[in-house]
This record gives sequence, structure tokens and C-alpha cells, in this order.
Amino acid sequence: MTLKTALVTGITGQDGSYLAELLLKKDYVVHGIVRRASTFNTHRIDHLYHDPHEPDARLFLHYGDLTDGTRIAALLEQVQPDEVYHLAAQSHVRVSFDEPEFTGDTTGLGTIRLLEAIRATGLSCRFYQASSSEMFGATPPPQNESTPFHPRSPYGAAKVYAYWVTRNYREAYGLYAVNGILFNHESPRRGPTFVTRKVAMAAAQIKAGLQEVIHLGNLDARRDWGYAAEYVEAMWLMLQQDKPDDYVIATGASHSVRDFVDQCFSHVGLDWRDHVRFDERYLRPSEVDDLVGDAAKAERVLGWRPRVRAPELARLMVDAELTALSHTRATAVGAPAASPVLELARP
Ligand code: NAP
Ligand code: GDD
Repeated sequence: MTLKTALVTGITGQDGSYLAELLLKKDYVVHGIVRRASTFNTHRIDHLYHDPHEPDARLFLHYGDLTDGTRIAALLEQVQPDEVYHLAAQSHVRVSFDEPEFTGDTTGLGTIRLLEAIRATGLSCRFYQASSSEMFGATPPPQNESTPFHPRSPYGAAKVYAYWVTRNYREAYGLYAVNGILFNHESPRRGPTFVTRKVAMAAAQIKAGLQEVIHLGNLDARRDWGYAAEYVEAMWLMLQQDKPDDYVIATGASHSVRDFVDQCFSHVGLDWRDHVRFDERYLRPSEVDDLVGDAAKAERVLGWRPRVRAPELARLMVDAELTALSHTRATAVGAPAASPVLELARP
């Protein structure tokens, strides 16, 4: 039996790690693109990696960068994937205001580099684009596949460009190319500068007496938060259909940042008001106030529906932090206290 081959960009990120797990469970051969860094950046997938010399190895990693179109084309030629999951991006909205040009280059142009490499090499692979609810920006909820875009950040604008070139390559060249318009999804593997993980880590650290306060920005923003491990199932389903199409993936419920903070702190018996301080550096020049996704089409066509909702997500993320802390304490005498300088320096 010939196994299917997938190429995953952004395999070292939150979603890439869950997707790689899912694809390996489904017996795929998985190739991931990893950008070169001076420190190890593969901690989220280390548990999946085996020596590639072993005869049954099915996960292979390659150096590559979204800004390097020649390398991307060479990797596509070499790997000959059946499915390409394009997840890599500069994915932080606040950072995109500090680095707008880099964000446009990676998050926007990175997508057309991949699409153009697929077209030019004549591969007949299927292509998934990691589109985002940030594209809806200022358009009031609920948002579905027909809702007009009004991005509120360089990140959101770059994702709108990537969304449209994906549709364009589908219409112009007949590529099986789809947009998954995913609303916020979180997990214990979420990057520590996104608000849910930052808060979950702080609640655990404060409970353990390792930290006293956390600095946050806008507590009024509302997000539709789901569980990342479930959202990668939707990505896979989108590439298994008869026809390519675009889908919103969301839970359909929104909560304020304040609600999420409250859920995390009350889970460990703390009152968040005693520990949260405001810092304007975490505000954005323009904010997305309210995102609530309508994923009816995904349920109808893909049979996908969310299971974990925000309150349960908050609890599972805090529990994961408490478990990680207890492991640190068991192996190191005197776990390092969180540095207030680092906490403040991160966006
Ligand atoms: P993430 O954790 O920030 O992962 C981003 C990945 O992209 C990492 O593997 C990162 O590598 C890689 N990357 C960044 N710049 C690169 C470059 N120039 N060349 C090659 N690789 C590069 O993001 P995520 O939460 O998993 O999200 C996955 C995708 O879905 C992103 O495109 C994001 O914009 C989009 N999205 C996310 C959400 C969400 O709520 N999570 C919602 C909608 C859409 P390093 O590990 O080396 O940094
Ligand atoms: N990061 C962060 N840090 N956000 C904060 C903070 C803070 O200290 N304080 C308040 N917030 C607010 C932000 O202003 C925003 O309204 C909300 O918390 C969520 O911020 P993030 O967790 O950074 O996520 P995001 O919604 O901006 O973007 C994420 O979701 C998008 C999908 O809608 C990212 O994963 C994007 O890549 C993704 O496309």
C-alpha cells in the first residue's frame, strides 16, 4: 500500500505539532519545513521524531524559510507531496504592527511563493491555506464564509491577500486549494505571548507563589476560543472532499479576555483582580473587538463540530501549567521565578 505524503509548513508551531500527530496517526509520511534558528525550535514535535535512518521513520524535517521561494520550490520537487498544509506565518497580531513589512513578506507573500511553486512544478497536490478570523476584523459578528473582510492589522491584511491568492489559484489554474478560516484556537502548546497561554501560565505561577502579578492590555475584546487539537481535524477534512471550498471553523460562542482571565484564576481559587495590572504596551493601534464564528457549513459538509468550549479550555490549560510546574519542581531544587523583565518585554 502506498502511503500518502504531506508537506507541512509551520510544523514547529502549535497547529503544526497537532497536525503532524494527526497525520502520523493516519499513516501519512510527513515532511515538515523548519526554519533555521540558533536555538532549538522543535520542542513541540520532539516526541514525534525518530531517527530518519530507521526503516519505519515517517517524519522528516527540512530546513526552509517562507522568504526563500527557490528553496520552497526545490522541497516541493523533492518531497512530491499529495497534500500541502501551509501553516507557517508571522502569526502575532501585535507584533505585525512592529514588523509590518516582514509580516507582509512571510504571512502574505509566503503563500503565493508556495502556490506558484506548486503551479510551476506541475504538482497535482492539494493545498490548505491557514486563513484567519482576523480577516473579518471590524465586521460585526457572527462571521461566516460570506462575511466581508475588514482587517485591522498588518497581519489581518496579509492574511486577506493570502486568502485571495489561494482562491485565485483555484479559479485560474484549477488547483485544489482551500482556505480554512479558523477562529482563535488554543492549547497548552500555544505560544506564551498569546493571551490565553500567558494568563494560564500566570495563574499557575501565582498560585505556586512564583509570581505576584501579570500585566495585560485590553480586557474587553471578545474572542471565539476553541481547542487547537480539534481544529487540525477540520484542516484534514477540508483536503478530503470531492471539491475544494472554504470553511469557517469556530465554536460559535464568544467570551471577553476578562472572562477568560476570571476562568483561569478562579480555577486555582484566586481573585484575578488582586493580580492583574494594566500595561498599555499590550494595546494594539487598532483592535478587533468581537469575533464569533458561524461554522454551520463545516458541520453540514465536513461533519466537523467543536467539543471543547472556552471555560473547559481555560481549565485544561491551567491544569497543564500546574502539571508542568510540579515536574519542574520535582526535578530542580528551587524552580526559577518568572522574570518580570521578560514578562514586560514580550508583546
Ligand atoms: P505559531 O504557533 O505561531 O506557529 C507558526 C509557525 O510558522 C512556526 O512553526 C514558525 O516557526 C513558522 N514560521 C514563522 N515564520 C516563518 C518563516 N519565515 N519561514 C518558515 N517558517 C516560519 O502559529 P499557530 O497558532 O500554530 O498557527 C498556525 C497558522 O494558523 C498560522 O499561519 C496562523 O497565522 C494561522 N492561524 C492561527 C490561529 C490560532 O488561533 N492559532 C487562528 C487562525 C489562523 P518557529 O517555530 O521557528 O517560530
Ligand atoms: N497577546 C496579548 N497579550 N493579547 C492581549 C493582552 C496581552 O497581554 N492583553 C489583552 N490582550 C487581548 C488582545 O488585544 C486581543 O484582543 C486578545 O487579547 C487576543 O490576543 P491574542 O491572544 O494575541 O490573539 P489574537 O486574537 O490577536 O490573534 C490570534 O488569533 C487569530 C485568529 O483570530 C492569533 O493566533 C492569530 O494568528 C490568529 O489569526
